[in-house]
Amino acid sequence: MIEVLLKKIAYLVDKIRVKLFRFEEQVFEKKYNLTTIKHERGSTKKEYRGYAPTPIRILKLTLERININENDIFIDIGSGKGRVIIFAALYNFRKVIGLELIKEFHEDAKLNIERFKLSENIRDKIELVNDDVCNYVINDDTTIFYFANPFSIQIYSKVFDKIYNSYINNKRLIKIIIYRPVLLVKLYIEKIEWLRLIDVIEDNTIMYGKDYQVHIYEINEK
Ligand SMILES: C[S@@+](CC[C@H](N)C(=O)[O-])C[C@H]1O[C@@H](n2cnc3c(N)ncnc32)[C@H](O)[C@@H]1O
Repeated sequence: MIEVLLKKIAYLVDKIRVKLFRFEEQVFEKKYNLTTIKHERGSTKKEYRGYAPTPIRILKLTLERININENDIFIDIGSGKGRVIIFAALYNFRKVIGLELIKEFHEDAKLNIERFKLSENIRDKIELVNDDVCNYVINDDTTIFYFANPFSIQIYSKVFDKIYNSYINNKRLIKIIIYRPVLLVKLYIEKIEWLRLIDVIEDNTIMYGKDYQVHIYEINEK
């Protein structure tokens, strides 16, 4: 009897949590004049995931927590409709790059950037690239890499090799940010000797909590 009641309460709490989450995201979208909420299927390749945005609250928490310096170059790998790029551009990065596979999402990102009405000098920091990460050549100056579950572990491992090669070409402080890392990705990164986990960000409000963790890794310069 108690068990059934507890299950019902847990179910209700979960429903409220989802409703609050959606409401907050809609309020943010209206406030910032964006259309980045809608989840959409992307590539038909099974290794590539579709579009879903990082929640604005989590994004702001993350950008406030990493120590940014004016030489940092930020890239969102799988930038979708541009939400992360727009907010990152408001911070002290030298340059902000959005790399997106799907042309339609890439075009949506351009429209969102226009609608957000960024000042000209901030907009000039943004570069949008419409390409598959597997073809993309990583710039040896890029320092902060952001991933929000864009693809499978097989693709991650190719991209991480590219990041490491770029590090060897130009040794610098690199940070890798993973939003909601799935277990396989966490285990994979744990085994990488050249990276170490330096921070875990989570929001403890009812609608986020541990579900929405962000892991931050840094080059392990041993
Ligand atoms: C979950 S969404 C994240 C969007 C955005 N980064 C955010 O957090 O709001 C992942 C995005 O990665 C893109 N993507 C998937 N595979 C990719 C690839 N191989 N190269 C570039 N982008 C890719 C998808 O099309 C999708 O827009």
